Amino acid sequence: MSNSIKKVGVMTSGGDSPGMNAAIRSVVRTCAYHNIECVGIYRGYEGMIEGDFKSMDARSVKGIINKGGTVLKSARSKEFRTVEGRKMAHEKLIEANIDALVLIGGDGTFNGGLIFNKEFDFPVIGIPGTIDNDIFGTTHTLGFDTALNTVVECIDKIRDTASSHNRLFFVEVMGRDVGHIALNAGVGAGAEEILIPEEDLGLGRLLESLRRSKKSGKSSSIVVVAEGDKIGKNVFELKDYVESNMTEYEVRVSVLGHMQRGGSPSCFDRVLASRMGVKAVESLLSGKTNYMVGLLNDEMALTPIEQAVKGKSKINKELLRVSEIMSI
Ligand code: F6P
Repeated sequence: MSNSIKKVGVMTSGGDSPGMNAAIRSVVRTCAYHNIECVGIYRGYEGMIEGDFKSMDARSVKGIINKGGTVLKSARSKEFRTVEGRKMAHEKLIEANIDALVLIGGDGTFNGGLIFNKEFDFPVIGIPGTIDNDIFGTTHTLGFDTALNTVVECIDKIRDTASSHNRLFFVEVMGRDVGHIALNAGVGAGAEEILIPEEDLGLGRLLESLRRSKKSGKSSSIVVVAEGDKIGKNVFELKDYVESNMTEYEVRVSVLGHMQRGGSPSCFDRVLASRMGVKAVESLLSGKTNYMVGLLNDEMALTPIEQAVKGKSKINKELLRVSEIMSI
């Protein structure tokens, strides 16, 4: 491994996700293992601009592998979008003798890192952390698996009420522009319908499908709706529409919201975070920069950050078909 890197900065940025702490722990301990200094940067790019840094050693990350959120805190920085902001951040890094960065976050975080690398030739490497799973170059982002388990647990509970009262429930789940949470949790919780931005079911077909369900003997139904669904109505308008067209159903809405982003990370996310942290630091030490670490075919893989931000994370068509067959 190269010894030109002596001090690595690690930060979390954008929406927090379960597993970020496990990734911080892994980055810090991998640095310690290779006798490299590690510095935590608070509040993402915001803290970088202000020089809000703290030295971290192997012991300073004890007891965080099981914690949700991020001990380094997170922010979405407007100032870093300006040339002046990035110049200030660069000066603070140089002052602190930090010579490479591990960025834990999503699209916005990586876009920032990409520009920063282009402007200052500063070594960066990304770890994908977002519950949305909307990053190209990895089958799983940190927090996705935990969020799925949270959503499935909630829907299981909602189903108790749905079936006791013969109700139809619309359950809105997160996923700004993508339907990965809705599709996977929907299949896992046995939802009758899943509405995602990638597939336009249309209101007519939704009604048709609900009528078919009713006719086949189902007395209650769960429809999972991704928050970014493009059917043209928000989840409350959907409720009104279905209620006025299907008087046989009593309809309720449940918006799960930010509870999906919190909580103790699943074992899968903890293991993934540990693997990604090691890969990120060791890649930097071997001279690799401008890559994102990901999980592909169960192995750690590197994708150029530029590709990771430009590429599209595709919806699993096979899973779509499975959901269609299961909801018969
Ligand atoms: O990107 C993660 C995410 O939780 C999305 O699913 C959601 O649309 C968004 O963040 C919410 O962001 P905020 O917490 O800033 O409202």
